[in-house]
Amino acid sequence: MRTVDLIHRKRDGEELSGEEITYLVEGYTRGEIPDYQMAAFLMAVFFAGMSERELGALTECMVSSGETLDLSEIPGVKVDKHSTGGVGDKTSLIAAPLAAAAGAVVPMISGRALGHTGGTLDKLEAIPGFRTGISTAEFRAILAQHQLCFAGQTDELAPADGKLYALRDVTATVESIPLIASSIMSKKLAAGLDALVLDVKVGSGAFMKRQVDARRLAQAMVAIGRRINKRVQALITDMNQPLGFAVGNALEVMEVSQTLQGAGPADLTRLSLELAARMIHLGKVSDSIEEARDRAQRRLLDGSGYRKFKEVIVAQGGNPLVLDRFDLLPNATGAREVASPRAGFISAIDAGDIGRASAIIGAGRETKEEAIDPAVGVILEVKVGDKVEAGAVLCRLYYTKEDHLEEAAQQVEDAFKISTHPPEERELILEVVG
Ligand code: URA
Repeated sequence: MRTVDLIHRKRDGEELSGEEITYLVEGYTRGEIPDYQMAAFLMAVFFAGMSERELGALTECMVSSGETLDLSEIPGVKVDKHSTGGVGDKTSLIAAPLAAAAGAVVPMISGRALGHTGGTLDKLEAIPGFRTGISTAEFRAILAQHQLCFAGQTDELAPADGKLYALRDVTATVESIPLIASSIMSKKLAAGLDALVLDVKVGSGAFMKRQVDARRLAQAMVAIGRRINKRVQALITDMNQPLGFAVGNALEVMEVSQTLQGAGPADLTRLSLELAARMIHLGKVSDSIEEARDRAQRRLLDGSGYRKFKEVIVAQGGNPLVLDRFDLLPNATGAREVASPRAGFISAIDAGDIGRASAIIGAGRETKEEAIDPAVGVILEVKVGDKVEAGAVLCRLYYTKEDHLEEAAQQVEDAFKISTHPPEERELILEVVG
């Protein structure tokens, strides 16, 4: 087999065999195929796409490029949830405890903030003492005892993805549906899951700007799961404004606490409950989605989801008191208001702009190596559809350093669109795939 022939055939839109894909991925992971040939192959995939069979083969060899976690000794269906990345998206910290409190087993492998999107690990690490870098043995022990554990992706899980992603990042091939689908699914499948609920975001703050692309990505990931008998379902949800009011790590933990106590924003509560219900259903704790919704709702109302989150915070070394006493979380030292230039209705809040502004003042990072400031971020005072007077506060930027504050404030101002008429109502949950 010659690499150049495979690149040639993919470039011309031909379907490669599983063996040929394995040759490419294994050869690249071992360092036998050079970056320039893999880059050419990735660009060919970017333009020519991949069949379902090719996608399955690509994902499977990425999974087998490293270790796979075996969680079979822990009783129950292991179900995780993954979001393709949003702004203010703290649903994992709400849906996972609700699902675990309802009886699902949730080994949650999460990522970090990158660019304008947030990351679950960074949010958890805003809790003083919380450890996400735990050993596999500890991960298993916490999961067995509490039915929920949060951890980061290790270098041993799907290492081919790490290597391919780094190459995609510098060759303009990140935004390819088969490459995104195989990247996400390989990491999740290596973590020993039986079932997975995906939240595919669409809109100004998401990877996918158009619903048709979000649907294709969701279908690709569901198809990968189906091929290997994993239960996978995807919700396509709106990311044309931040979810909830808080954007930024400690600020989002505060909103998680309020939501788990039944006092959260309507959109965040609604989506978290639906994700929890899907996890409960795929985790075979309930026979129907209606029953699963009822269980999720009850676990919210009786406070057991909130208690489960506290229990896991303790198990992972964190201080659970932060959920009641926000002064124990990292706190910003200053707040900068952004006011409405005129009266009207909020017709759009560009989630990408809010995410970027929050990242500029330190809540996010441009490269994987950068440190973040857990205290800072943005709190919205309004949501799309709200009526505002001229001079009303639209949001506040919470900061610890003034370096980039004005740049961030400008970005936030640009995010709000104000119109004379109320905008049409937009659905939060747009579609279910799988
Ligand atoms: N997230 C991933 O894990 N991989 C991608 O390719 C894109 C988003």
